[in-house]
Amino acid sequence: MKCHRCDEQGVVDLRHRRAAYCAACFVQRCREQVANTIRSHRMIRPGERALVAVSGGKDSLAVWDLLLDLGYEADGVYLGLGIGGYSDRSGACAKEFAESRDARLLEVDMARDVGFTIPQAAPSRRAPCSSCGLSKRHLLNKVAVDHGYDVLVTGHNLDDEAAVLFGNVLNWNLPYLARQRPALPEAPGFARRVKPLVRLTERETAAYCVIRGIDYIIEECPMAAGNRHLMYKEMLNSLEERAPGSKSTFLRGFSERLMPLLEDLAAEERAGVGTCSRCGSPTTGDVCAFCRLRDQAGRPPARRRSGRRGRRPARRGRGHDAAE
Ligand code: FES
Ligand code: ZN
Repeated sequence: MKCHRCDEQGVVDLRHRRAAYCAACFVQRCREQVANTIRSHRMIRPGERALVAVSGGKDSLAVWDLLLDLGYEADGVYLGLGIGGYSDRSGACAKEFAESRDARLLEVDMARDVGFTIPQAAPSRRAPCSSCGLSKRHLLNKVAVDHGYDVLVTGHNLDDEAAVLFGNVLNWNLPYLARQRPALPEAPGFARRVKPLVRLTERETAAYCVIRGIDYIIEECPMAAGNRHLMYKEMLNSLEERAPGSKSTFLRGFSERLMPLLEDLAAEERAGVGTCSRCGSPTTGDVCAFCRLRDQAGRPPARRRSGRRGRRPARRGRGHDAAE
Protein backbone atom coordinates (compact mmCIF):
# COMPACT_ATOMS: atom_id res chain seq x y z
CA MET A 1 0.00 0.00 0.00
CA LYS A 2 1.24 3.49 -0.86
CA CYS A 3 1.73 6.20 1.75
CA HIS A 4 -1.37 8.38 2.16
CA ARG A 5 0.80 11.51 1.87
CA CYS A 6 3.62 10.70 -0.55
CA ASP A 7 4.52 8.04 -3.09
CA GLU A 8 6.70 5.97 -0.77
CA GLN A 9 5.78 2.47 0.34
CA GLY A 10 3.49 2.60 3.42
CA VAL A 11 4.90 0.84 6.52
CA VAL A 12 2.20 1.65 9.09
CA ASP A 13 -1.35 0.71 8.20
CA LEU A 14 -4.00 2.52 10.26
CA ARG A 15 -7.24 0.62 9.74
CA HIS A 16 -9.36 3.11 11.70
CA ARG A 17 -8.16 5.86 9.33
CA ARG A 18 -8.26 3.63 6.25
CA ALA A 19 -4.76 4.87 5.41
CA ALA A 20 -1.13 3.76 5.42
CA TYR A 21 1.94 5.96 5.96
CA CYS A 22 5.64 5.70 5.21
CA ALA A 23 7.97 6.08 8.22
CA ALA A 24 8.72 9.79 7.70
CA CYS A 25 5.08 10.80 7.07
CA PHE A 26 3.90 8.70 10.01
CA VAL A 27 6.29 10.44 12.42
CA GLN A 28 5.24 13.79 10.97
CA ARG A 29 1.57 12.88 11.43
CA CYS A 30 2.18 11.93 15.11
CA ARG A 31 3.85 15.31 15.68
CA GLU A 32 0.93 17.14 14.08
CA GLN A 33 -1.63 15.21 16.11
CA VAL A 34 0.18 15.99 19.35
CA ALA A 35 0.79 19.64 18.44
CA ASN A 36 -2.92 20.07 17.57
CA THR A 37 -4.05 18.39 20.79
CA ILE A 38 -1.76 20.61 22.88
CA ARG A 39 -2.98 23.73 21.06
CA SER A 40 -6.70 22.95 21.15
CA HIS A 41 -6.72 22.19 24.89
CA ARG A 42 -4.14 24.86 25.77
CA MET A 43 -2.10 22.15 27.47
CA ILE A 44 1.31 23.82 27.51
CA ARG A 45 1.64 27.58 27.06
CA PRO A 46 4.68 29.43 25.77
CA GLY A 47 7.50 29.55 28.31
CA GLU A 48 6.00 26.91 30.59
CA ARG A 49 8.06 24.06 32.03
CA ALA A 50 6.66 20.57 31.56
CA LEU A 51 7.43 17.44 33.56
CA VAL A 52 6.76 14.12 31.83
CA ALA A 53 5.82 11.10 33.97
CA VAL A 54 8.07 8.43 32.47
CA SER A 55 7.44 4.75 33.16
CA GLY A 56 9.88 3.34 30.60
CA GLY A 57 6.96 2.16 28.46
CA LYS A 58 6.23 3.17 24.86
CA ASP A 59 3.64 5.87 25.60
CA SER A 60 5.59 7.92 28.11
CA LEU A 61 8.82 7.73 26.09
CA ALA A 62 6.95 8.62 22.88
CA VAL A 63 5.30 11.67 24.44
CA TRP A 64 8.60 12.84 25.91
CA ASP A 65 10.33 12.43 22.55
CA LEU A 66 7.50 14.27 20.76
CA LEU A 67 7.54 17.19 23.22
CA LEU A 68 11.31 17.57 22.89
CA ASP A 69 11.04 17.51 19.10
CA LEU A 70 8.26 20.09 19.19
CA GLY A 71 10.63 22.37 21.12
CA TYR A 72 9.06 22.23 24.59
CA GLU A 73 11.12 22.49 27.75
CA ALA A 74 10.31 19.02 29.06
CA ASP A 75 12.09 17.11 31.83
CA GLY A 76 11.15 13.59 32.93
CA VAL A 77 10.36 11.98 36.26
CA TYR A 78 10.67 8.26 36.92
CA LEU A 79 8.90 6.69 39.88
CA GLY A 80 10.51 3.45 41.11
CA LEU A 81 7.59 1.36 42.35
CA GLY A 82 9.76 -1.41 43.81
CA ILE A 83 8.25 -4.19 41.66
CA GLY A 84 11.46 -6.28 41.46
CA GLY A 85 13.10 -6.84 38.07
CA TYR A 86 10.22 -5.17 36.26
CA SER A 87 11.00 -1.86 37.96
CA ASP A 88 14.73 -2.31 37.30
CA ARG A 89 14.16 -2.88 33.58
CA SER A 90 11.63 -0.06 33.16
CA GLY A 91 13.93 2.35 35.04
CA ALA A 92 16.80 1.35 32.74
CA CYS A 93 14.72 2.23 29.64
CA ALA A 94 13.82 5.64 31.12
CA LYS A 95 17.46 6.41 31.96
CA GLU A 96 18.74 5.21 28.61
CA PHE A 97 16.29 7.47 26.77
CA ALA A 98 17.16 10.49 28.95
CA GLU A 99 20.87 9.97 28.28
CA SER A 100 20.34 9.52 24.54
CA ARG A 101 18.43 12.81 24.34
CA ASP A 102 20.60 14.60 26.89
CA ALA A 103 17.41 15.30 28.86
CA ARG A 104 16.99 15.73 32.62
CA LEU A 105 15.39 12.82 34.47
CA LEU A 106 14.29 13.19 38.11
CA GLU A 107 13.99 9.96 40.05
CA VAL A 108 11.83 8.99 43.02
CA ASP A 109 12.38 5.62 44.61
CA MET A 110 9.38 4.62 46.72
CA ALA A 111 11.34 2.34 49.07
CA ARG A 112 14.03 4.96 49.68
CA ASP A 113 12.00 8.18 49.54
CA VAL A 114 8.56 7.17 50.79
CA GLY A 115 9.26 4.15 52.98
CA PHE A 116 7.16 1.52 51.20
CA THR A 117 6.80 -0.12 47.80
CA ILE A 118 3.73 -1.03 45.73
CA PRO A 119 3.95 -4.75 46.64
CA GLN A 120 4.02 -3.71 50.32
CA ALA A 121 1.07 -1.34 49.91
CA ALA A 122 -1.14 -3.66 47.89
CA PRO A 123 -4.01 -5.14 49.88
CA SER A 124 -3.67 -8.91 49.60
CA ARG A 125 -7.08 -9.63 48.09
CA ARG A 126 -7.38 -6.83 45.53
CA ALA A 127 -5.52 -6.00 42.35
CA PRO A 128 -2.69 -3.66 43.45
CA CYS A 129 -3.30 -1.25 40.57
CA SER A 130 -5.56 1.04 42.60
CA SER A 131 -2.80 1.56 45.22
CA CYS A 132 -0.32 1.96 42.38
CA GLY A 133 -2.43 4.55 40.52
CA LEU A 134 -3.06 6.48 43.73
CA SER A 135 0.66 6.55 44.57
CA LYS A 136 1.59 7.66 41.07
CA ARG A 137 -0.95 10.51 41.05
CA HIS A 138 0.09 11.72 44.48
CA LEU A 139 3.87 11.43 44.15
CA LEU A 140 4.20 12.66 40.56
CA ASN A 141 2.07 15.69 41.31
CA LYS A 142 4.15 16.38 44.43
CA VAL A 143 7.39 16.29 42.42
CA ALA A 144 5.89 18.66 39.81
CA VAL A 145 4.67 21.12 42.47
CA ASP A 146 7.81 20.93 44.64
CA HIS A 147 10.09 21.55 41.63
CA GLY A 148 7.97 24.38 40.24
CA TYR A 149 6.82 22.75 36.98
CA ASP A 150 3.71 24.26 35.40
CA VAL A 151 2.36 21.10 33.90
CA LEU A 152 2.55 17.35 34.48
CA VAL A 153 2.38 15.35 31.25
CA THR A 154 1.25 11.73 31.15
CA GLY A 155 1.36 9.23 28.28
CA HIS A 156 -2.31 8.17 28.37
CA ASN A 157 -3.27 7.23 24.81
CA LEU A 158 -6.60 6.81 23.02
CA ASP A 159 -6.90 3.16 24.10
CA ASP A 160 -6.28 4.04 27.76
CA GLU A 161 -8.82 6.82 27.73
CA ALA A 162 -11.45 4.73 25.94
CA ALA A 163 -10.97 1.91 28.51
CA VAL A 164 -11.27 4.34 31.44
CA LEU A 165 -14.37 5.86 29.86
CA PHE A 166 -15.87 2.41 29.33
CA GLY A 167 -15.34 1.55 33.02
CA ASN A 168 -16.75 4.88 34.20
CA VAL A 169 -19.82 4.52 31.99
CA LEU A 170 -20.33 0.89 32.99
CA ASN A 171 -20.49 2.03 36.63
CA TRP A 172 -22.12 5.41 35.83
CA ASN A 173 -19.46 7.02 37.96
CA LEU A 174 -20.37 10.65 37.34
CA PRO A 175 -17.64 12.29 39.50
CA TYR A 176 -14.99 10.27 37.65
CA LEU A 177 -16.60 11.11 34.30
CA ALA A 178 -16.53 14.80 35.24
CA ARG A 179 -12.79 14.55 35.94
CA GLN A 180 -11.92 12.58 32.81
CA ARG A 181 -10.58 15.17 30.41
CA PRO A 182 -7.44 15.66 28.29
CA ALA A 183 -6.37 18.65 30.41
CA LEU A 184 -7.19 19.13 34.09
CA PRO A 185 -6.59 22.73 35.12
CA GLU A 186 -4.06 23.69 37.75
CA ALA A 187 -5.40 24.34 41.26
CA PRO A 188 -3.83 25.09 44.65
CA GLY A 189 -1.48 22.16 45.31
CA PHE A 190 -1.97 20.76 41.79
CA ALA A 191 0.05 21.17 38.64
CA ARG A 192 -2.01 21.15 35.45
CA ARG A 193 -2.29 17.53 34.22
CA VAL A 194 -2.37 16.91 30.49
CA LYS A 195 -2.56 13.95 28.10
CA PRO A 196 -1.21 14.98 24.69
CA LEU A 197 -1.47 11.43 23.25
CA VAL A 198 -5.27 11.13 23.52
CA ARG A 199 -5.65 11.10 19.74
CA LEU A 200 -3.03 8.38 19.16
CA THR A 201 -3.72 4.69 19.64
CA GLU A 202 -1.49 2.25 21.47
CA ARG A 203 -0.49 0.75 18.11
CA GLU A 204 0.53 4.18 16.86
CA THR A 205 2.73 4.97 19.88
CA ALA A 206 4.39 1.53 19.55
CA ALA A 207 5.01 2.10 15.83
CA TYR A 208 6.34 5.59 16.61
CA CYS A 209 8.89 4.16 19.09
CA VAL A 210 9.99 1.43 16.68
CA ILE A 211 10.50 3.93 13.85
CA ARG A 212 12.33 6.38 16.12
CA GLY A 213 14.54 3.60 17.58
CA ILE A 214 13.30 4.15 21.13
CA ASP A 215 13.92 1.14 23.36
CA TYR A 216 10.97 0.68 25.71
CA ILE A 217 9.85 -1.99 28.17
CA ILE A 218 7.42 -4.32 26.41
CA GLU A 219 6.45 -6.64 29.26
CA GLU A 220 3.29 -5.90 31.24
CA CYS A 221 3.57 -5.18 34.93
CA PRO A 222 3.58 -8.57 36.73
CA MET A 223 1.08 -7.23 39.26
CA ALA A 224 -1.48 -6.28 36.62
CA ALA A 225 -3.26 -9.68 36.56
CA GLY A 226 -6.95 -9.14 37.27
CA ASN A 227 -6.76 -5.45 36.33
CA ARG A 228 -10.16 -4.38 35.04
CA HIS A 229 -8.66 -1.69 32.87
CA LEU A 230 -6.86 -4.39 30.84
CA MET A 231 -10.09 -6.35 30.56
CA TYR A 232 -11.93 -3.30 29.20
CA LYS A 233 -9.09 -2.74 26.72
CA GLU A 234 -9.42 -6.31 25.44
CA MET A 235 -13.19 -5.90 25.05
CA LEU A 236 -12.78 -2.65 23.14
CA ASN A 237 -10.10 -4.24 20.97
CA SER A 238 -12.46 -6.98 19.88
CA LEU A 239 -15.06 -4.34 19.09
CA GLU A 240 -12.48 -2.36 17.13
CA GLU A 241 -11.54 -5.50 15.22
CA ARG A 242 -15.10 -5.81 13.92
CA ALA A 243 -15.85 -2.11 13.61
CA PRO A 244 -12.63 -0.10 13.06
CA GLY A 245 -12.87 3.44 14.44
CA SER A 246 -15.26 2.51 17.31
CA LYS A 247 -12.82 3.54 20.04
CA SER A 248 -12.13 7.00 18.67
CA THR A 249 -15.86 7.56 17.95
CA PHE A 250 -16.67 6.54 21.54
CA LEU A 251 -14.08 8.92 23.01
CA ARG A 252 -14.81 11.80 20.65
CA GLY A 253 -18.56 11.54 21.35
CA PHE A 254 -17.84 11.75 25.07
CA SER A 255 -15.67 14.86 24.81
CA GLU A 256 -17.97 16.64 22.36
CA ARG A 257 -21.38 15.72 23.79
CA LEU A 258 -21.16 14.63 27.43
CA MET A 259 -18.16 16.52 28.79
CA PRO A 260 -19.77 19.97 28.37
CA LEU A 261 -22.80 18.74 30.35
CA LEU A 262 -20.55 17.72 33.24
CA GLU A 263 -18.89 21.14 33.63
CA ASP A 264 -20.93 22.06 36.73
CA LEU A 265 -20.14 18.79 38.45
CA ALA A 266 -16.44 19.21 37.63
CA ALA A 267 -16.50 22.72 39.14
CA GLU A 268 -18.36 21.43 42.23
CA GLU A 269 -15.69 18.74 42.66
CA ARG A 270 -12.92 21.30 42.45
CA ALA A 271 -14.65 23.58 44.95
CA GLY A 272 -14.88 20.78 47.53
CA VAL A 273 -11.11 20.28 47.72
CA GLY A 274 -9.29 21.12 50.95
CA THR A 275 -5.88 20.06 52.24
CA CYS A 276 -4.73 16.91 54.02
CA SER A 277 -4.19 17.54 57.72
CA ARG A 278 -1.00 15.43 57.61
CA CYS A 279 0.82 16.14 54.38
CA GLY A 280 -0.91 19.26 53.04
CA SER A 281 -1.89 17.65 49.72
CA PRO A 282 -5.24 18.49 48.17
CA THR A 283 -8.08 16.18 49.26
CA THR A 284 -11.79 16.27 49.98
CA GLY A 285 -11.31 14.50 53.32
CA ASP A 286 -9.38 15.24 56.53
CA VAL A 287 -6.57 12.88 55.59
CA CYS A 288 -5.67 12.21 51.95
CA ALA A 289 -5.93 8.75 50.40
CA PHE A 290 -2.14 8.53 50.04
CA CYS A 291 -1.55 9.13 53.76
CA ARG A 292 -4.14 6.44 54.51
CA LEU A 293 -2.36 4.09 52.11
CA ARG A 294 0.94 4.83 53.83
CA ASP A 295 -0.63 3.90 57.21
CA GLN A 296 -1.92 0.68 55.73
CA ALA A 297 1.46 -0.18 54.19
CA GLY A 298 3.17 0.37 57.55
CA ARG A 299 0.94 -2.11 59.36
CA PRO A 300 1.99 -5.75 59.77
CA PRO A 301 -0.05 -8.07 57.47
CA ALA A 302 -1.87 -9.84 60.34
CA ARG A 303 -3.20 -6.57 61.69
CA ARG A 304 -4.23 -5.49 58.20
CA ARG A 305 -6.33 -8.66 57.91
CA SER A 306 -7.94 -8.36 61.34
CA GLY A 307 -8.63 -4.68 60.64
CA ARG A 308 -10.90 -5.71 57.78
CA ARG A 309 -12.83 -8.13 59.97
CA GLY A 310 -13.00 -5.83 62.98
CA ARG A 311 -14.95 -2.70 63.61
CA ARG A 312 -15.45 -0.53 60.52
CA PRO A 313 -13.42 2.68 60.60
CA ALA A 314 -15.38 5.87 61.13
CA ARG A 315 -16.57 7.28 57.79
CA ARG A 316 -16.09 10.89 58.83
CA GLY A 317 -13.24 12.60 57.10
CA ARG A 318 -12.77 9.94 54.42
CA GLY A 319 -12.92 11.68 51.11
CA HIS A 320 -10.91 11.27 47.97
CA ASP A 321 -7.83 12.99 46.72
CA ALA A 322 -8.93 15.47 44.13
CA ALA A 323 -6.72 13.70 41.60
CA GLU A 324 -8.32 10.31 42.17
FE1 FES B 1 1.18 -0.28 38.92
FE2 FES B 1 1.76 -2.52 37.96
S1 FES B 1 2.51 -0.64 37.27
S2 FES B 1 0.56 -2.19 39.71
ZN1 ZN C 1 -1.84 13.40 53.01
